[in-house]
Amino acid sequence: MGLSKYRSIFSASTGQERIENFENYWTFTQQHGGQLLEAEQDLAKKRARLQYFKDHPVRLRKPLANPDAFYRNYVTMKDDPKSLDQLTLMLTGIYKFARHEWVGIKAAWDVVPDMANSHSVEDKISRVHLAEEFCHWRLFDEMLRTCGLDQVKWEPLTPVKEWIYQQFPRLPGFLMDTPAFVTELMGVTYYFHLHRLFDDLLHDEPEVRDRLKELLDEITIDEIAHVGQRRNFIGPIGIWISRQLVKPFYTLFFKDIPEIGLLFDINKMIKHGEAFDFNEVPDYMVARTWIPSYCKV
Ligand SMILES: [Fe+2]
Ligand SMILES: [Fe+2]
Repeated sequence: MGLSKYRSIFSASTGQERIENFENYWTFTQQHGGQLLEAEQDLAKKRARLQYFKDHPVRLRKPLANPDAFYRNYVTMKDDPKSLDQLTLMLTGIYKFARHEWVGIKAAWDVVPDMANSHSVEDKISRVHLAEEFCHWRLFDEMLRTCGLDQVKWEPLTPVKEWIYQQFPRLPGFLMDTPAFVTELMGVTYYFHLHRLFDDLLHDEPEVRDRLKELLDEITIDEIAHVGQRRNFIGPIGIWISRQLVKPFYTLFFKDIPEIGLLFDINKMIKHGEAFDFNEVPDYMVARTWIPSYCKV
């Protein structure tokens, strides 16, 4: 990793640069995910990758001591979260984070134009983006299976929250683009911190630790590209607003998932989001992801 190869994600860009970057991203995303399988909300290359993981399963050497603690608390926390061990908290936290993503993309999938009705490059990008998010949800499910949790049900949120998620993709761009960008950034922050937690909690389970990292990397590499792509929707005023939104957004979202505050330092995560600039992205990820031209030095 070089020292300063990249500028802040909040760096300025011109309208012309953003047009060129959308074209460039569109080329990238088609080869990255492979053919869009729209009826299955899937992408050919990503499907093959997930199938590889399923065909070569890795499981815990020592099964979870108390899977009931997971199943009792994964949809709604019933116990005092402080009474749960860190691994259980990590797994219920993963489920809750993934569940929010899943609800959001289900709602958006029915609202945004399908590929046949996507005429602008932005619309096409957004369709493939959503298909990638469905792949992430499957990868998260595979993470839980890797830890022996194969009875997980994907439950809808409360009707009010489901309604809010359904309205979000209907908002005009000037309202939707900044929170959509900050949400992607929040995802990357969480995944970077989660990656480190695998090392902390799974030193006795090296095979599972490494498999969880492989599964998470598939997601993180996409999400780093999404951060740049969603940033590319935003002009000079919006990018200033986005920077201001990091703190309230991270605070609000993570308050809803008590596990996150117990496992991670949310203030550090906020600082991380505000300072994000791609320099911390390891080379093996840079090689497979996408970075806007105006974020490169
Ligand atoms: Fe995602
Ligand atoms: Fe994303």
